[in-house]
Amino acid sequence: MKNQNRRSFLKLSALSAGFLGLSTTSSYSYNQLQDKIEELAVSKKQTGKSVMDLAVAPIEQVRVGIIGVGNRGYSHVRTINSLSPKAKIVAICDARKSRITRALELLTELNGKKEKIATYSGNEEVWKDMVKRDDIDLVVVITPAPVHARMAIYAMQQGKHVVSEVPITLTIDESWELVNTAEETQRHCMMLENVSYGEEELWILNMVRNNVFGTLTHGEAGYLHHLLEKLFSNSPDPKDSAYYKQWRLRLHAEMSGNLYPTHGLGPVANYMKVGRGDKFDYLVSMDSNNASLSEYSKTVSSDNEFYNRTNFAHGDMSSALIKTAKNRTILLQHDVVSPRPYSRKNVLAGTQAYHEGYPSRLALYEDDHGHNWLNDDKYNELRKKYQHPIWTKMKKEAEENGGHGGMDYLEFYRLFTNLNKGVSLDMDIYDGINWSVIVPLTKLSNELGSVPVKFPDFTRGDWKKERELGYFKHI
Ligand SMILES: NC(=O)c1ccc[n+]([C@@H]2O[C@H](COP(=O)([O-])OP(=O)(O)OC[C@H]3O[C@@H](n4cnc5c(N)ncnc54)[C@H](O)[C@@H]3O)[C@@H](O)[C@H]2O)c1
Repeated sequence: MKNQNRRSFLKLSALSAGFLGLSTTSSYSYNQLQDKIEELAVSKKQTGKSVMDLAVAPIEQVRVGIIGVGNRGYSHVRTINSLSPKAKIVAICDARKSRITRALELLTELNGKKEKIATYSGNEEVWKDMVKRDDIDLVVVITPAPVHARMAIYAMQQGKHVVSEVPITLTIDESWELVNTAEETQRHCMMLENVSYGEEELWILNMVRNNVFGTLTHGEAGYLHHLLEKLFSNSPDPKDSAYYKQWRLRLHAEMSGNLYPTHGLGPVANYMKVGRGDKFDYLVSMDSNNASLSEYSKTVSSDNEFYNRTNFAHGDMSSALIKTAKNRTILLQHDVVSPRPYSRKNVLAGTQAYHEGYPSRLALYEDDHGHNWLNDDKYNELRKKYQHPIWTKMKKEAEENGGHGGMDYLEFYRLFTNLNKGVSLDMDIYDGINWSVIVPLTKLSNELGSVPVKFPDFTRGDWKKERELGYFKHI
């Protein structure tokens, strides 16, 4: 990375300068910047001990406190409630009382009676009172992304285990604080990456484990989901499912890069055993021009805060290339504004097989040297042969309870079951951080002209240990 030897000098935006501890008034050579970027990747001093494969004493029934019952939180209330007696909702907090009322009505409807649940609402700091309660084992964070890390850190400091929606962190500093707090407190801190439990994703994972793909070389992942109108919505009516204070659009106004990396990336990282023998080494990132947001902003009501804006930092399409320590590559994309069908790509290439998602198709070297996709019979035979044991055991229950085709149900089923048993969880804090830290790293690479940016090693070298993935343990 240091050999770029570029003579041009760059002036930094306040954002990049702040990141690198440099000034906005001076110019810097590429080599000076590369030194700074490499400093960012140096591991911080360890203040506790590793929480890899952490197991704590069994919790017979997990007492849950929820922060945030907006769009996603409302559906998690249903899922968590369906997993009684493994877990029980003890308290709910949301800055808005109306959302709590809606969640309590749902519980009354589901259970046929009013539940005794403590509630906290009225302001954006009241969640701390809930987290301090001594009758909660697990805090579930389902608030806007910019506050996840702060809430998760505080929960662990109060002795609670914590799970957080995606992404769990948006900055490098918060990532280290999360890791150090988990290691000091020896609490579970898991990011709720539900797509890891998808039937297709776990099937591919199982094929990889059974060597169907041969040597893995390349993956492609993305979050390509047309959300343009929803991003701008500021309707107070819960049925319109507008984001709280337009938090997601606000991020697009302020930040370039990949703002929502984990859904496509988590499964590809699992195929490659990132954190368990391989590691994200560095990435380069570039954004397209921004057009959809500024064009659409002209069409919204003039009382919308984002009416007639042109200065969105985020381009329509963000693309990053990640290189792993084992020399594999991953193309990662994010586009929530183009008019297009949903996709997470889910591409995996190996020396013996190739898979593409949306729709799922598989080619094998042993079948026509991979020149054609497998026909339906052969494809279905492999779907059956390599169905992941979690899906074999739980398919009916997962589909009945739903949530993104059953993946949300399986995510909480596995979480609570493993906590009930006192065994390690499927994903650890290092997974959550590695998949989320893409947000600040892509932003930095973009701002510096798509330069390579190294990943910090949050495991402090332990990624080299070949370990079994959680999804194959304790089934
Ligand atoms: N895994 C998935 O498939 C998936 C799907 C959708 C959303 N998400 C994630 O879930 C999270 C929530 O998304 P959403 O669509 O529900 O957003 P939302 O805006 O609908 O809900 C957020 C809720 O948090 C509440 N809130 C905000 N600040 C708060 C504070 N300081 N204290 C207490 N409550 C606060 C708001 O009142 C709101 O009800 C986001 O991180 C998002 O990325 C994940």
